[in-house]
Amino acid sequence: MNRTIAALLTVALTPATACLAQDASVGASLYTQYCSTCHGSDGRGAGPLTEIMTEKPADLTKLAANNPSESGVFPMLKVIHIIDGRTGLRAHGGPMPTYGNIFMAEVEDEMEEMGAVLETRGRILSLAMYLETIQD
Ligand code: HEC
Repeated sequence: MNRTIAALLTVALTPATACLAQDASVGASLYTQYCSTCHGSDGRGAGPLTEIMTEKPADLTKLAANNPSESGVFPMLKVIHIIDGRTGLRAHGGPMPTYGNIFMAEVEDEMEEMGAVLETRGRILSLAMYLETIQD
């Protein structure tokens, strides 16, 4: 059994609250590594790269407040799709990198196909769960 699947099983068997906290903290370090250059370390959209960008990165602490279908509710599914970028929303163009492809490319060489798919989904979900914790 490879390490990712073992880790996923561990997460699946951990009580829900501990599991959420763990995913959010994984998401926090992924966020620092992949997102903070544009969205800022606090998620408010003022990362160092914004000086040379024409389109301003979104304030990621307002995702729940600005949810058009239900104000105050974190739009989990939409956020997952936006980060992934391979399906539907923003699949074509736009300044946001397509993290579904980026994560797949990073891990593809290290593990077999199924493991890479799970690792990619896990990273995207962890990022979305982290963003949920920083809502205003
Ligand atoms: C190269 C700069 C850049 C990086 C890196 C980046 N983003 Fe973005 N992001 C943007 C810009 C610009 C927008 C606003 C325009 C748009 O929605 O396409 C945006 C929009 C978003 C939105 C949509 C917000 C809304 O209100 O609809 C989410 C969610 C998001 N980013 C999450 C992330 C996450 C998570 C990461 C890291 C995995 C990340 N971004 C990395 C530039 C970036």
